[in-house]
This record gives sequence, structure tokens and C-alpha cells, in this order.
Amino acid sequence: MILSLFHLTFSLAGLTSATNLVHYPPKLTNLNNLTFVLNGTGAPGIFTSSTTPDSEYGIYNWCNMPHVRTREYQVPASDYTLKYIEIIQRHHKRTPYASNTFFKEDISWDCTGEGPVYYGKGTVGVTSDPTVVQWSAYTNPENPFTNSVGPGFVGSNCAFPQITTGGINDSYIHGADLRAVYAERLNLSTTLDPNMFKIRVTSNPITSQVSGGLLHGLFPDSSDVAVLIQADAFDSLSASYSCPVADSIFTAYTTGSVNWTEHLKDGAGLYEELDAVSGIAENDTAGWHTSFDHYYDNLSAKQCDSKPLPCSVNDTSLCVNQSLADTVFRLGSYEYSYYYRDAFNSTLFGALSYGAWVLELVGHLKEQIEETSEVKYFHNVAHDDSLGPLLGILQISEMVWPGMGSEIVFELYEKSSSGSSNYFLRVLWGGQPMQTSLPLGTNSSGLLDMIPVEDFFDYVNNTIGTGPELFAACQG
Ligand SMILES: *[C@@H]1O[C@H](CO)[C@@H](O)[C@H](O)[C@H]1NC(C)=O
Ligand SMILES: *[C@@H]1O[C@H](CO)[C@@H](O)[C@H](O)[C@H]1NC(C)=O
Ligand SMILES: *[C@@H]1O[C@H](CO)[C@@H](O)[C@H](O)[C@H]1NC(C)=O
Ligand SMILES: *[C@@H]1O[C@H](CO)[C@@H](O)[C@H](O)[C@H]1NC(C)=O
Ligand SMILES: *[C@@H]1O[C@H](CO)[C@@H](O)[C@H](O)[C@H]1NC(C)=O
Ligand SMILES: *[C@@H]1O[C@H](CO)[C@@H](O)[C@H](O)[C@H]1NC(C)=O
Ligand SMILES: *[C@@H]1O[C@H](CO)[C@@H](O)[C@H](O)[C@H]1NC(C)=O
Ligand SMILES: *[C@@H]1O[C@H](CO)[C@@H](O)[C@H](O)[C@H]1NC(C)=O
Ligand SMILES: *[C@@H]1O[C@H](CO)[C@@H](O)[C@H](O)[C@H]1NC(C)=O
Ligand SMILES: *[C@@H]1O[C@H](CO)[C@@H](O)[C@H](O)[C@H]1NC(C)=O
Ligand SMILES: *[C@@H]1O[C@H](CO)[C@@H](O)[C@H](O)[C@H]1NC(C)=O
Ligand SMILES: *[C@@H]1O[C@H](CO)[C@@H](O)[C@H](O)[C@H]1NC(C)=O
Repeated sequence: MILSLFHLTFSLAGLTSATNLVHYPPKLTNLNNLTFVLNGTGAPGIFTSSTTPDSEYGIYNWCNMPHVRTREYQVPASDYTLKYIEIIQRHHKRTPYASNTFFKEDISWDCTGEGPVYYGKGTVGVTSDPTVVQWSAYTNPENPFTNSVGPGFVGSNCAFPQITTGGINDSYIHGADLRAVYAERLNLSTTLDPNMFKIRVTSNPITSQVSGGLLHGLFPDSSDVAVLIQADAFDSLSASYSCPVADSIFTAYTTGSVNWTEHLKDGAGLYEELDAVSGIAENDTAGWHTSFDHYYDNLSAKQCDSKPLPCSVNDTSLCVNQSLADTVFRLGSYEYSYYYRDAFNSTLFGALSYGAWVLELVGHLKEQIEETSEVKYFHNVAHDDSLGPLLGILQISEMVWPGMGSEIVFELYEKSSSGSSNYFLRVLWGGQPMQTSLPLGTNSSGLLDMIPVEDFFDYVNNTIGTGPELFAACQG
């Protein structure tokens, strides 16, 4: 069912081509129903622990999202042979970002003995075996500039952000769970074979921090691994490449649209309660009042690491209670659903801002079909604003804020004697076939479960176009 249709035409060096991008709206649920978000109750999932009981594994857990595990894995019919997988995940749980710590309250972070390891390594003699160097953040009151950065830093030995001990543990379990499902299916040994396996990170160190834990679970006998990284100027994984057209489209449907600003206006009373605890000024310009992101991050990071909700430094009886925190969590999901699915132009934004990564994925899949690559498994460690636009391109039917460790798996299968197509794609979200709003899959059900891979290629061609087309579309 096509509810809305948007044609975009652009040209490059005299060549004219067109994409036929269509926005298929998501399902209407409590997640994107503003009345429920503001006036309902409860958190939209688990926000207080990395552990989801087996009996309900698969539900939303902000601290540690569901991923592929042996227990829940749906084994395909035996005439499907797994050829290749590509995984993209968000990093695991961390301290808040520095920008989210300008919150004058009473909870501090201790990172004694935990933190990023960072050192150089050469190729010869002693240079190939240097001492492991770990960062320990510190502040000194003699430095008068310390306070201008944010009170969260003062007296803390954490980097904001850094992956916490719990987040490294979750990364390890994630890798071990993937190994249990895929090692035998893909013939992966306990030692990493760089011809068969690739891992890629962004320039944000937290993705490398997660890789250390993950790789230990995936390849228990490997200790020294090269991770791939693109330069920020054109990195497709963090989507840091320049795309001014995407930026202006995003601005138009967020800060430039009442469809976005209405929830901030309706949430004015909540801001008053939160500001009273945090001391954030009503006229703040650091982003606390342009979305609920900073409050969400500041509160959820605490709860995932078993810290109490904050109270005012001036009045310890003035605290954020659980029902206020839960409302902030509902608002966060609402915002992500709006950014990447509800807004009419969200698909266009996703296609422009994350299209380059999808084109790389399509290239990897085609290499498998053409049998020009030995790689069996490609793993990407990324961010919520990587998975967000990707879920937007895939037009997932229920959009959430991709929580810690969120995972999308692209599985390429070959099927013996199956008529027109021999290659099939299954896309797993939270460990299960992804339900989208796309007219793909059996009877156009939108379930990305063994769809002919050519259908996916056609969809990408219609939605993103070719590389040169995407590049040109970004420049306007
Ligand atoms: C929430 O409830 C209040 C009071 O009943 C009402 O005034 C307000 O319109 C509701 N908000 C939304 C977004 O429906
Ligand atoms: C939105 O949520 C409100 C409150 O729960 C409910 O009354 C209303 O029916 C919902 N709207 C839709 C379209 O589901
Ligand atoms: C939130 O802000 C407080 C104060 O800056 C800081 O101590 C804490 O680290 C910040 N972040 C959160 C919630 O954890
Ligand atoms: C690591 O994860 C396992 C499984 O979730 C859990 O049982 C264990 O308590 C965790 N350990 C730490 C240090 O967080
Ligand atoms: C699996 O790998 C082993 C050695 O790494 C190799 O001998 C064997 O042929 C491989 N099996 C398949 C099915 O690729
Ligand atoms: C706001 O939403 C309405 C209803 O979905 C839509 O028709 C309109 O185009 C949107 N406006 C903007 C500026 O996004
Ligand atoms: C605490 O009180 C001081 C002095 O009135 C004020 O400057 C500061 O903003 C207050 N902090 C909070 C979190 O309300
Ligand atoms: C916010 O308002 C206060 C007074 O109410 C003023 O001192 C301050 O300069 C204002 N800050 C900004 C960024 O406008
Ligand atoms: C939580 O705090 C809000 C004010 O921020 C208050 O209106 C509400 O009654 C409190 N809820 C509970 C369950 O204490
Ligand atoms: C979507 O973006 C295009 C290109 O910027 C713009 O012309 C159109 O008005 C936008 N549509 C909506 C509904 O905002
Ligand atoms: C697809 O549609 C056909 C015809 O309507 C129906 O017979 C078949 O059961 C449907 N298949 C599935 C998996 O829903
Ligand atoms: C991509 O789509 C265009 C039309 O939008 C079509 O002309 C072209 O043949 C398609 N390319 C492939 C490889 O399917």
C-alpha cells in the first residue's frame, strides 16, 4: 500500500537519473502516539539492567538490546546455505557524553581501573610488544578552565564518554553469542582469519572499546586484530560525510516544523520539573531544550549502571522520580520514531545521510554472488545515529531509539534449484526477521525473511540510486 509518493530528480555532469523514493509510514503504536507518550505511564522497555530474562528475551532493553543467540535463532530450511553475514551494531553501554553532563546534581562516576587502552605499536623487535597504556581522566583545580567544560568532569576519573565495565562485559557476551550461532555455519575457527572476517569501527574510541570485548567473545584465541576505519571526511559508518541537502531536510522537519516542536511545547511542564533538579537554565542553548536527548542520556546512563536517579545539589528532597524518568524515556522513543520514520521526509533523509553505507553493503553482497570475495563475515561497530537512518532506509514498522548493542544482521543465503533467484536475504533485528512497512517479502508482508536479494538491490536502486547519484543528490 503506497500512502505517499515522492519523486526526486537530480543530475550529474549532464547525466540525468531519478530515484523513486517512497515513504511507507510506520505502524501507529504507543511509541509514536504523542498522547500516550505524554499522558501514559511506564517505561517503553527495560532501562535498569543489562539482563533480560530468557522468558521475554527480544523485548526492548535500552541497556543491552536483544541480539542473535542460539536460544532464539530461527534455523532456516536445510535447502538454504548461509554464504555471508554482515552485522552492524551500536556500541554497548557507556558513561554519558560530555555534552550531557552539564547537569549539576549529586551522582558521580568512578572509573578506577576501567577505561580506554590507547597506544602505538610497531613492526620490529621491542616495538611490536609495547606496554599496554590505559587512560585515566583527571582534573586539577589549579586549572581554571576545568569548570567551563562541565561539572560532570570535576573529581571524576571517567572519560565522557567511555564504555563501562558492564558495557565491556556486554560486548564480550554479544561476541560469544554470535560465535555460538555463526562459527559452525560459517566455518570460523577460534582464531580470526583476516581473509574471512573483517571488523570496522568509527573514529569515536568507544567503538574500538566495544570491539575489544566483542572480539574476545568471537575469536577467543586471537589477541591482536586490525580494525578497519575510514577517515571522518567520508566515513559511511558514522555517516560523517558531508551531505548539506540531508542536513537542510532534517532541519526543515525538526526545528523548522510544528510537527516536531509541538512535543517540546506540550512538554514544557516536564522541562520545568527536570530543570529544577538539574539547574539547567530556561534559556539554555546547549541542547537541553531542543530535544529530550540530553536528559534521556543523563538519566538512562545512570539507571543502566545501577545508580540512583539524581536530586538537586541545593535541595536533596527535590529529585527526579521514576515516573518522570519513564516519561523522558517515552519521549526519547517518540523523537527517534519521528526523526527516522514518522516524518514524511525521514526516508529521504536516511537515504541521503546513510546511503553510502548501504551501497557498500550491496557491493559486499554482489561480491559474494560473483564469488570474488573470501570474506564470510563483516562486522561494523557504530552508533545510534548510524542504526537510526539505516532503520529508516529499511522502513522498519516500529521504530525505537536503537539502544545499547542494538544489532542488525544481513544474512545472505544460497538456495539450491529455486527458479529465478538463487540468493536470498534475511534481515534480523533483535535476533528475529525484521518487520518493515516495505512492499517486500511474501505477499508484500514487509517481513524481510528470505527475500530474493534482487528485490533488495532494486529497492536500494530506487531509494538511494548509484554512488554518483547519491553524491550529486547530497550537494543539491
Ligand atoms: C494530556 O492530558 C492533559 C490533561 O488531561 C491534556 O490537557 C493534554 O491535552 C493531554 N496531552 C496530549 C498530548 O494529549
Ligand atoms: C493514543 O493514545 C491514547 C492514550 O492511550 C489513546 O486514547 C488513543 O486511542 C491512541 N491513539 C491511537 C491512534 O491509537
Ligand atoms: C549528569 O550530570 C551529572 C552532573 O554533571 C554528572 O555528575 C553526571 O555524570 C551526568 N551525567 C549523568 C547523568 O550521569
Ligand atoms: C557479565 O554478563 C553476565 C551475563 O549477562 C552476567 O551474568 C555477569 O554478571 C556480568 N558481569 C559483570 C561484571 O557485569
Ligand atoms: C573449514 O575450515 C577448515 C580449515 O580452516 C577447512 O579445512 C575446511 O575445508 C573448511 N570447511 C568448509 C566447509 O569450508
Ligand atoms: C506535518 O504533518 C502533517 C501530517 O502528517 C503533514 O501533512 C505535513 O506535511 C507535515 N509538515 C511538515 C512541515 O513536516
Ligand atoms: C543552586 O543554588 C545556586 C545559588 O543560588 C545556583 O546558582 C545554582 O544554579 C543552584 N543549582 C541548582 C542545581 O539548582
Ligand atoms: C539566560 O537568562 C539569564 C537571566 O535570566 C541571563 O543572565 C543569561 O545571560 C541568559 N543566558 C543566555 C544564554 O541567554
Ligand atoms: C514524581 O514527581 C512528579 C514531579 O516531578 C510528581 O508530579 C509525581 O507525583 C511524582 N510521582 C510519584 C509516583 O511520586
Ligand atoms: C521534503 O523535502 C523536499 C526537498 O527538500 C521538500 O521539497 C518537501 O517540501 C519536503 N516535504 C515535506 C512534507 O516536508
Ligand atoms: C499469500 O497470498 C496467497 C494468495 O492470497 C495465499 O494463498 C497465501 O497463503 C499467502 N501466503 C502467506 C505466507 O501469507
Ligand atoms: C536503477 O533504476 C533506474 C530507474 O530509476 C533504472 O533506469 C536502472 O536500470 C536501475 N539500475 C539497476 C542496476 O537496476
